[in-house]
Amino acid sequence: MKQDDRAPFDQALQRARVSAYDRGEFVEQESFMRAGEIRTLAARAGIAPGVRVLDLCCGVAGPGRFITQVFGCTYLGVDFSSSAIDIARERAGELPCRFEVARIPPLPPGPFDVVLLLETMLAFPEKDTLLQEISRALTTGGRFAFTMEEGEPLTGAERASMPDADTVWLTALPEMLTCLERVGLAVRWQEDRSRYHRATADSLIDAFAADATDIAAQIGRQALDELLAAHRLWSDWLRDGRVRKIAFVAEKTGTTGTTGTPRTTAADVAADRDGVP
Ligand SMILES: C[S@@+](CC[C@H](N)C(=O)[O-])C[C@H]1O[C@@H](n2cnc3c(N)ncnc32)[C@H](O)[C@@H]1O
Repeated sequence: MKQDDRAPFDQALQRARVSAYDRGEFVEQESFMRAGEIRTLAARAGIAPGVRVLDLCCGVAGPGRFITQVFGCTYLGVDFSSSAIDIARERAGELPCRFEVARIPPLPPGPFDVVLLLETMLAFPEKDTLLQEISRALTTGGRFAFTMEEGEPLTGAERASMPDADTVWLTALPEMLTCLERVGLAVRWQEDRSRYHRATADSLIDAFAADATDIAAQIGRQALDELLAAHRLWSDWLRDGRVRKIAFVAEKTGTTGTTGTPRTTAADVAADRDGVP
């Protein structure tokens, strides 16, 4: 079930989400990232006071509000869910955050120093146009910080087992690296986050199951069952390597690559599997 009407889901899952993350690690993210990981990625991307940040697919903007508070950047969050943006606006309070309801692409006119895309690369079946637009929105030297779901496209049987499979488009790493290079984005940092994201998925499964009666009363049994089924699949796929979660910072170089091998290869990324949490 899609969560386009975000308020009932936000409310129903809040207690379980709070309990699923370690103390201080839940900042209203709608994802497997922990607050420490969000903070590290933002720092690696050079977010600081005055830096202009665009957060694509921000949802209720838990990560965006957290980053704005910690780093003092200027912030624009965009999501196509108007109910998610309503929640984001209300919770931002006095923070210097702006929000827009829009379907990406196209992107808001830049320029921006940093573009974020957290836990949503998989929603885009066709990544080329998106990456071109991101590169165009960045200043030269600007950074694109994102996570991706890495793997070969889902098979028919896998698609049949995944709820809302029309929002799950995996990409193999070599293809992503080639796309980034083609639009002039050079990978500066990457880290395999699979085992940490699997731990979060498992923790969320336990917390949703423990609170199942109350959650089902608010969003319905079918929505809860689909939520659990999706989380179990992610946990399995992350455990057996069917999917990897990788965090990246890529810098806009000012030149678009057309030939040659990407400077960061799949082997480099594999070497980063055991990055610190
Ligand atoms: C998994 S949530 C992640 C939210 C947030 N980035 C986070 O990490 O907490 C994905 C969000 O992407 C939004 N979304 C998906 N595809 C989109 C698109 N093409 N344009 C704008 N928003 C989109 C959904 O509405 C949802 O809020």
